[in-house]
Amino acid sequence: MAIRNLRYSNDEILRKRSREIEVIDDKIKELAKDMMETMHKYDGVGLAGPQVGILKRIIVIDLYEEGTQFILINPVIVKTKGEQVCEEGCLSFPNQFGKVVRPKEIEVVALDIDGNKIRVKGKDLLAQALAHEIDHLDGKLFVDFVEPGTLETVTPENKETKKEEKNNRKK
Ligand code: NI
Repeated sequence: MAIRNLRYSNDEILRKRSREIEVIDDKIKELAKDMMETMHKYDGVGLAGPQVGILKRIIVIDLYEEGTQFILINPVIVKTKGEQVCEEGCLSFPNQFGKVVRPKEIEVVALDIDGNKIRVKGKDLLAQALAHEIDHLDGKLFVDFVEPGTLETVTPENKETKKEEKNNRKK
């Protein structure tokens, strides 16, 4: 396993649409493990292929609670319900946080790492994380639709308090 280099803010790769994964080979399995390790290293709760420079439809999520760790391949949102206003950040924008509107509940169909079709139902933070990561696969970034006036840049001076406020939820 290895830590992959993250791609940041103005990197054009973050704007591109990722391709479907047709075969889950050893390379994809290694990528999935590396993405999980990279996400953990940076205290993220989610990470998508383009964020490590790979334009493939794969996301990893870990909310650090039992049953909340996922590797999802070719994820598709099949249902959403309600809305929630979320405090959001992104591992590709390490100093920025803002409020975004996300579905309150979400249902996703995907393949797991063994190629089995799975259905993941999430609400609250899991719904937010799923929506955020799947957006990445279509080149969509939270900074584009952040609620006006809520995007904050965390400077070294206010970093600690901001970190606590935002509960360090980076995706
Ligand atoms: Ni992100």
